[in-house]
Amino acid sequence: MTLVVVQAGVDGDLRGRQGVARTRSRGREALRHAAELASHGPLPFRVSGAGAPLAVETPDGRWYWSLANTRGRVVAAVSSAPVGVDVESLDRPRIAPARAFCDEAELRLIGNADPARTLALWTAKEAVLKKAGCGIAELRECRVARRPRPARVVLEHRGRLHRVTLLRVERHVVAVASDLDPRAVEIAEVPR
Ligand SMILES: CC(C)(COP(=O)(O)OP(=O)(O)OC[C@H]1O[C@@H](n2cnc3c(N)ncnc32)[C@H](O)[C@@H]1OP(=O)(O)O)[C@@H](O)C(=O)NCCC(=O)NCCS
Repeated sequence: MTLVVVQAGVDGDLRGRQGVARTRSRGREALRHAAELASHGPLPFRVSGAGAPLAVETPDGRWYWSLANTRGRVVAAVSSAPVGVDVESLDRPRIAPARAFCDEAELRLIGNADPARTLALWTAKEAVLKKAGCGIAELRECRVARRPRPARVVLEHRGRLHRVTLLRVERHVVAVASDLDPRAVEIAEVPR
């Protein structure tokens, strides 16, 4: 079983359309790098009509992938099992309070979470929803199931539990949702 996660910084002027294009192209570069590290060479990374990643069938089996970006950073994952990643910046102007995306039962499990921790939980939810391919339309149905640990959170979605590994990369929080052994989650960097 394979799970490769890579991250990359995005340099230069990130304003406007040019910044979006630069970030997008760095994301694709990160994906190609992840495919190489997964020892598979190039893979055709296609999306559904709704923009969700489509699994890639190869003679060696099926490959899943996920991509996330935020200002100045991209994260990509390629895996032999369903995977979802998300990345958020700790320097964003505002971090929503946990009550904006968690119900009372979840808030009891979370306890007093500082902004970094709160952002990590939001990031974890996005990663699980991306692993499912549904996006934030099902945010309310994706719930914290156990008291979160510093580098791990378990969420419930569509009637089953999903493990999420949380990592810090400089001033960014990265969440990786995968059913594979979370101890295997390492994050590689794409060369500049
Ligand atoms: C998927 C989603 C959570 C991404 O959030 P985001 O913070 O805007 O962007 P991220 O950087 O985290 O991720 C972007 C990547 O997610 C991937 N993605 C898009 N839709 C996806 C989906 N349904 N499932 C999994 N991944 C998806 C794409 O690879 C995209 O990369 P691209 O922008 O280069 O095409 C969000 O766009 C979403 O919910 N989309 C589905 C539409 C939807 O449900 N809308 C209802 C709103 S209530």
